[in-house]
Parts: sequence; structure tokens; C-alpha cells
Amino acid sequence: MADKLKIGWIGLGKMGIPMSANLVKAGYPLKVYNRTKEKTKELADQGAEVADSPKAAAEGQDVVVSMISDDSALEAVSIGPGGAFEGAKSGTIFVDMSTVSPGASARVAAEAEKKGIKYLRAPVSGSTALATAGTLTIFASGPKDAYEQCVEIFGKMGQKSFHVGTGEEARYLKLVLNMMVGLTSAMVAEALTFGEAGGMDWEQMIDIVNNSVVASPLVGYKAQILKDRNFAPAFSATQMAKDFDIALDTGRINKVPMPMTSIIRQFYGTMMATGKGDMDFFGLLSLMEELAGMKK
Ligand SMILES: NC(=O)c1ccc[n+]([C@@H]2O[C@H](COP(=O)([O-])OP(=O)(O)OC[C@H]3O[C@@H](n4cnc5c(N)ncnc54)[C@H](OP(=O)(O)O)[C@@H]3O)[C@@H](O)[C@H]2O)c1
Repeated sequence: MADKLKIGWIGLGKMGIPMSANLVKAGYPLKVYNRTKEKTKELADQGAEVADSPKAAAEGQDVVVSMISDDSALEAVSIGPGGAFEGAKSGTIFVDMSTVSPGASARVAAEAEKKGIKYLRAPVSGSTALATAGTLTIFASGPKDAYEQCVEIFGKMGQKSFHVGTGEEARYLKLVLNMMVGLTSAMVAEALTFGEAGGMDWEQMIDIVNNSVVASPLVGYKAQILKDRNFAPAFSATQMAKDFDIALDTGRINKVPMPMTSIIRQFYGTMMATGKGDMDFFGLLSLMEELAGMKK
């Protein structure tokens, strides 16, 4: 269709591949870039054009989306040399959907302003399974008109999207959610280890938790991996440590005490130091079991 938005896509990791594939499936012309070029094959096979740099991915596009790991990656692919801002014309919408700090995001916003680029911060809630199903929750902050123009593409990647402000609000909201998600894993790990030591049947205990007042969508998604102790990462302990660090740094700047986040950051750090950093963050259970002398 002639009026489909032309989209440049930067970052084909665990989330970027399924999210961009949903746009290709929906018929959008996509030009994709990934630092490690081999990872573009899956999208190229589905019909996407491959670009050699973020700048090239942005050239001639209406919207450029990035889904990359962290602050330094965001700055490299947007405002760095050969970045998207060198290729994007004034009026292009740049949407970053990663989890990054409000500080780095504000530096990108300042450059976007200078170049007339409309910058949306649009992080997502939901992991790889929801990205594949196209049922993420997306919350964006930035210019409202740019958000309105992107609602249709958000609808291909997510089941709900929200406009939450015109500045860094979405960055804060994402950290609010990940603090609670990361603390939930620690709470579950400690309590289940306690129950296990008391002789509870493992699977029955998880089923009952999921039918109790503390049941939640998150604990429900993780029930099977807890039962199987299969901690292949949807979102790794190292990634959660990154988000806790961003939250703690931002809390320090804003003078907000965050005692629980500080303590649980130490457990994700211990996972990284003991070879568990690439496990799913719910693998914190296996660390707790080891600390309790119940090595599995
Ligand atoms: N996984 C989840 O469940 C989940 C859920 C919600 C939000 N998030 C957030 O979404 C973002 C992406 O997560 P993910 O799980 O897809 O991460 P990932 O699998 O580790 O992929 C990271 C991507 O960033 C690229 N990248 C890293 N450093 C770069 C640099 N300096 N220059 C250019 N590209 C660079 C990587 O390229 P290479 O392939 O070359 O390494 C890769 O494409 C993160 O901010 C994460 O916190 C993740």
C-alpha cells in the first residue's frame, strides 16, 4: 500500500527480531540494521531490506525505531557518528523502545530538537513471548502528534499503547515496572526456597501460589520455568541488573531512597559473579536454593 509508513529498524536482539517481524508481516516496508550483521538474515528472509549503518537505515524513512541494549547503544545508534540522526531528515519520527536512563534519553532529546526530529520514548512491558505474539504493552512519551502517527504500528507490536507525557515520563514508568518485576523474582525465590525446605511438593506449591492472593500475570508466566527450573533467558539477570542500576542512579539524582532495589541489586550482581548472569532473572531461585544448601 502506497500510504504505509516507511520504517527503519535498528537492533535485532531477542526483542527486536520478533517486534520487527510483526511489522513486516503487517506489510510495512522495513529497512533493518544490526551491529552484528548475521542477525539480519531472519528479517531479510522475510522481505526486509538490510542497511549497513544506523544512518543508512534512517535515510528516506518516515519512522525510525531502535530496540537496543542500553544507554551507550542508544547514543551510538542515534546521535553517534554514522547514527540515525545523520540519515534522518527533519520531521522524521525517531522511536526508541529500549529500556534506558532518563539522562541518556534527555541527551538524545536535545539533539532531536536541534535537528527537527520528533523523538518518542516508547519502552515496552512484556517479554519475548509477548513480543512474538504482538501483545506487548507500549507506553510512549514525546510529541503527541508523533504518538498519534505511530499508534498504528504500535498496534502491530502490542495490544495496548498509552501516551504518558511529553518528556521522559515513559522512561520513569518503565523503571517503575521493572523495579517491581525484579523485586517479585526475589520475593518468589526466597519464599519458594523456604517452602521447599519445609517439605512442600514443588509443583503443587507453585500451582497454589498461582491460585492465591499473590498470584499475578508475571508469576503465572513464570510458573512453568520455575517448575522445570529451566532458566533460558527471556530477560537475563544481567539485563535486570542494568535496569536496577539505571533506577538506582536516577533515584540518587532525585533523592529518592530505594532500599529494596539496592539490596536485590546485590543478588543480581551475585548471579553475574557466579556464572548465572545469562540465566533468566527468575533463575534467582537457583541462587537462593544454593544459599540455603539445597543445590539443584
Ligand atoms: N528481553 C526482554 O524480555 C525485554 C523486555 C522489555 C524490554 N527489554 C529491553 O529492550 C532492549 C532490548 O532487549 P533485548 O532482550 O532484545 O536485548 P539483546 O537481545 O541483548 O539485544 C540487544 C541489541 O542491541 C544491539 N546493540 C548493543 N550494543 C550496541 C551498540 N553499541 N551499537 C549498536 N547496537 C548495539 C545488539 O546488537 P548485536 O546483535 O550486535 O549485539 C542487539 O541488537 C533492552 O533495553 C531491554 O532492557 C527487554
